[in-house]
Amino acid sequence: MAGGKRMSQQVKDVVEEPTAVAASPGSARLALDGKEYELPVVVGTEGEVGIDISQLRAKSGAITLDPGYGNTGACESAITFIDGEAGILRYRGYPIEEIAEHGCFTDICYLLIYGHLPSKQELADFEGRLTYHSMLHEDMKKFFEGFPSSAHPMSMLGSMVASLSSYYPDGAKSNDLDLNIARLIAKTPTIAAYSYKKNIGQPFVYPRNDLSYCSNFLHMMFSVPAEPYNVRPSVDRALNLLLILHADHEQNCSTSTVRMVGSSQANLFASISAGICALWGPLHGGANQAVIEMLEHIRADGGDYKKYMDMAKDKSSGFRLMGFGHRVYKNFDPRAKILKATADEVLAELGVRDPLLEIAKGLEEVALHDDFFISRKLYPNVDFYSGIIYRALGIPTNMFTVMFALGRLPGWIAHWKEMLADPKTRINRPRQIYIGATQRPFVPIDQR
Ligand code: CMC
Repeated sequence: MAGGKRMSQQVKDVVEEPTAVAASPGSARLALDGKEYELPVVVGTEGEVGIDISQLRAKSGAITLDPGYGNTGACESAITFIDGEAGILRYRGYPIEEIAEHGCFTDICYLLIYGHLPSKQELADFEGRLTYHSMLHEDMKKFFEGFPSSAHPMSMLGSMVASLSSYYPDGAKSNDLDLNIARLIAKTPTIAAYSYKKNIGQPFVYPRNDLSYCSNFLHMMFSVPAEPYNVRPSVDRALNLLLILHADHEQNCSTSTVRMVGSSQANLFASISAGICALWGPLHGGANQAVIEMLEHIRADGGDYKKYMDMAKDKSSGFRLMGFGHRVYKNFDPRAKILKATADEVLAELGVRDPLLEIAKGLEEVALHDDFFISRKLYPNVDFYSGIIYRALGIPTNMFTVMFALGRLPGWIAHWKEMLADPKTRINRPRQIYIGATQRPFVPIDQR
């Protein structure tokens, strides 16, 4: 019987009340078909409780069913902590608010990937590597020639990152792994900027070693050979912040994809490329593009955002308020809070007036007082305000998800590395409850 016991059997999950736990501390009991199974309980450093079911099928024949994995922990991880009810996000223990105030993106890349804040020397060495490896192999430019100029930059990004494995195969030594990690972080902004240049028909601009990570990216995006281009410090600062806020978010769809693909021992570049593809969807990283398209649509339709709030509440309309809601946050997304304040600052500093910001604030205001959104705990997420800032920086809408990918890169790498080093890692292979036809004789074509 594939998938274990029959559907009709009642599976009852019992997490002991604190008083009852005394009899069997650190375990849960599952009653199934008249038998009881004791399941170990795992408690994380922040007190999160997980019931370890890794032996459940072997002992009982049953599996668990959790579409969308909302109740399933796929691993133990020491990288990022989220308390969605309290609106808390910490990278390696450091609160996102403090990181956003003091950190720079390369510093945070190191923190996420290597587990500690780098010393001045460690950071200088790491940044040196990121600078040194930022050029692409000249042959890779030929790949860009093959894409149509209308190609979505996410499609180019995913393909080009996967193709890095043709140039930089896996090495056996950990040294090689660190080198490939640096290559990936160094070359992805170059690939991203080349995708944009391909779209608009401008020549590719080579990286410059005298610029910081973010300034170099802006230079490759916006400079042209015909005239000098100076990166405004406020734009560099804003980009650093956006990348930092996107840098990790524990077991989200794309990161889980990276871990899933990596669990087969696929190489770093292939695993990250899979994460890029997962990120692209509008329910995940593609939401930042979808938010701006939604806001533009509302503006073109006369700016009556209340009409769109009503549509979002009417399930038959098929319309969702993009940039709202989150699987984990049932309170304010702390990243959205920071970005809302930053949007005002950045736009003021750059002297940009964006009517979409007013529409966005209007939508948020209505949602915060509307029963539909309150009862479902739907708040603005990280994608709600990020697009408005990207617009102010001059980044085109179809590049927004690429920007998310640039930011998420260290998180994906950190999880891939952690997965690889974890002795408990097995190839990811979920099960299913089969609901198809039971056995029946095959009908040859002449009898159909
Ligand atoms: N607009 C209107 N209703 C919504 C929305 C929304 N954006 N999001 C959720 N709901 C409703 C949904 O209809 C459901 O109502 P009911 O309980 O009456 O059936 C309830 O809220 C729960 O929604 P869900 O779809 O079961 O929640 P989920 O955890 O599966 O989905 C989500 C989370 C982020 C995919 C979803 O909220 C959504 O589609 N949001 C819009 C897309 C978006 O902004 N995505 C970016 C997420 S943050 C960045 C990232 O992780 O990439």
